[in-house]
Amino acid sequence: VARTVYYCAVSLDGHIAEADDTIGWLTEYDGTYDGDAPPVEGGYEDFYAEVGALVSGSVTYEWILGHLELGGDWPYAGKPCWVLSSRDLPVPGGEGVDVRIVNAPVAALWDEMAAAAGDRVLWVVGGGNVASQFADEGLLDEVRVTVVPVVLARGKPLFERRPPGGPMQLTAVLPRSNGMVELRYRIGGGASG
Ligand SMILES: NC(=O)c1ccc[n+]([C@@H]2O[C@H](COP(=O)([O-])OP(=O)(O)OC[C@H]3O[C@@H](n4cnc5c(N)ncnc54)[C@H](OP(=O)(O)O)[C@@H]3O)[C@@H](O)[C@H]2O)c1
Repeated sequence: VARTVYYCAVSLDGHIAEADDTIGWLTEYDGTYDGDAPPVEGGYEDFYAEVGALVSGSVTYEWILGHLELGGDWPYAGKPCWVLSSRDLPVPGGEGVDVRIVNAPVAALWDEMAAAAGDRVLWVVGGGNVASQFADEGLLDEVRVTVVPVVLARGKPLFERRPPGGPMQLTAVLPRSNGMVELRYRIGGGASG
């Protein structure tokens, strides 16, 4: 059975992008860890190896497309990627690119996406708009945020709406050698949730 995981990077104050959708605070971050507990290896590559299929909103997708124009390949070749949009968006070329532009509620796409992910992870790439749709429908199993120690004070939220179900259940705290820390939460099952 597929697990649906919202995996993304957040600022210390819970934003996933600047108000103008830029993420220099993430891509240009270059820090170190200075804690007592040893840092934990792994991170993005280990997570991505678990992923069977992806789903993204159009704002997030268009940001990736914009970066492809600067050079580079589609980063998710070999894995099906649903892109939610009411518009007719372009799809990049290249071997193994499987981008499916769809205009439908996430609940209506769920069976197809879960089947494609198989027993692996369905990665909700973001942004907060799409993450909220999954949470509202009770389709999100886990949230994994990698906290970057910068404060933006304003920007795009992790979730567009408050998710139902009360507190989440902390399942892992993973400090990285660059000073980021990955926090994993299971949806539901929190202190009073
Ligand atoms: N820090 C991180 O790790 C991280 C990760 C992901 C994203 N981000 C950032 O988050 C920001 C984007 O977040 P966002 O919440 O503003 O936007 P988003 O979730 O990427 O996209 C929302 C848009 O997708 C389309 N859409 C969503 N659900 C749909 C549905 N069910 N059917 C049809 N169309 C649907 C709609 O636009 P249209 O219909 O007009 O196409 C909607 O406005 C970007 O700045 C991105 O870079 C950061």
